Amino acid sequence: MTYIVVEACIKCKMTDCVEVCPVDCFYEGENMLVIHPDECIDCGVCEPECPVDAIKPDTDDGLEDWLELNRKYAEAWPNITRQKEHPADCDEWRDVKDKKQYFSPEPGEG
Ligand code: SF4
Ligand code: F3S
Repeated sequence: MTYIVVEACIKCKMTDCVEVCPVDCFYEGENMLVIHPDECIDCGVCEPECPVDAIKPDTDDGLEDWLELNRKYAEAWPNITRQKEHPADCDEWRDVKDKKQYFSPEPGEG
């Protein structure tokens, strides 16, 4: 198994998660992060750090597409290991549903 980042991260991108990862396997897109499934050691310490509950074990039902998205973009986006300021509008997005339509494939700054 692995942990992955799912829809709730889109446009929230609070980056609290990256500080605790012992193997630095988070990667930054323009408006969300992903986890590299082959680098994650399944320690689980990042899961409770996310304020919007966007980190899930891939063993949860229905996350196959998100596992593939994490794998694809972890190969394309820059590594991120230090927390950044929360986006100014992140609280406005935390309860929005169906955020996948807002997903950006563009890389973040890392
Ligand atoms: Fe990093 Fe552990 Fe989270 Fe995997 S489960 S992304 S190794 S903190
Ligand atoms: Fe995203 Fe949560 Fe990390 S919003 S950037 S998974 S702390």
